[in-house]
Amino acid sequence: MPHSLGILLSGRGSNFIAIADSIDAGRIPDARISAVITNKADAPGIATARQRGLNALAIPSKGKSREEHDREVVSALKKNDVDLVCLAGYMRLLSPWFVQQFPRRILNIHPSLLPAFPGLEAQEQAFAYGVKVSGCTVHFVDEELDHGPIIVQKTVAVLDSDDEHKLATRILEQEHLAYTEAINVVLAGKFRIVGRRLIVDEKS
Ligand code: GAR
Repeated sequence: MPHSLGILLSGRGSNFIAIADSIDAGRIPDARISAVITNKADAPGIATARQRGLNALAIPSKGKSREEHDREVVSALKKNDVDLVCLAGYMRLLSPWFVQQFPRRILNIHPSLLPAFPGLEAQEQAFAYGVKVSGCTVHFVDEELDHGPIIVQKTVAVLDSDDEHKLATRILEQEHLAYTEAINVVLAGKFRIVGRRLIVDEKS
């Protein structure tokens, strides 16, 4: 049975598209996307999922408590036998209950080198701070914001000629590569987590 991925998104969906393209091109072997779920019915990413013939579900969060919305999302993920949840620009905090439903099976991508600049508009935060290097992080989701063990990070140099948008564009290119790498690490399962450190087991 191929691995069954569930993608959660709230917006543009370029990370979702990168993952879908990697699966189609065989760069993520033995996997399929079983559900793409959005909390925003008008998210461009969900329209793309529909166009691609994927199982695209809008589960609006507006007017619901976090627990109530999370229960609906988890129920849809389980109904579709999802075994790896990928947050791809999903701009909602997951409740601890949600996290506990998929232990070490929820990934998130964040556009900074965590633990620097968690939260919203990370690229703008990094640019305004004046860092010379930024990048992106794919990590396991735990109960805290942008916090779980790191799977993959990629660096991006900040140039004197940059503005927030140019920097964000180059970080996004690296995000698309990082997410595929991280999914492959997790699906291969050949790693240990020691403290916060993910260590890929030696190839025998
Ligand atoms: C990406 O840059 C992602 O790293 C960021 O939202 C963007 C979504 O773009 N996520 C966060 O900031 C989460 N804290 P996309 O919809 O084109 O994938």
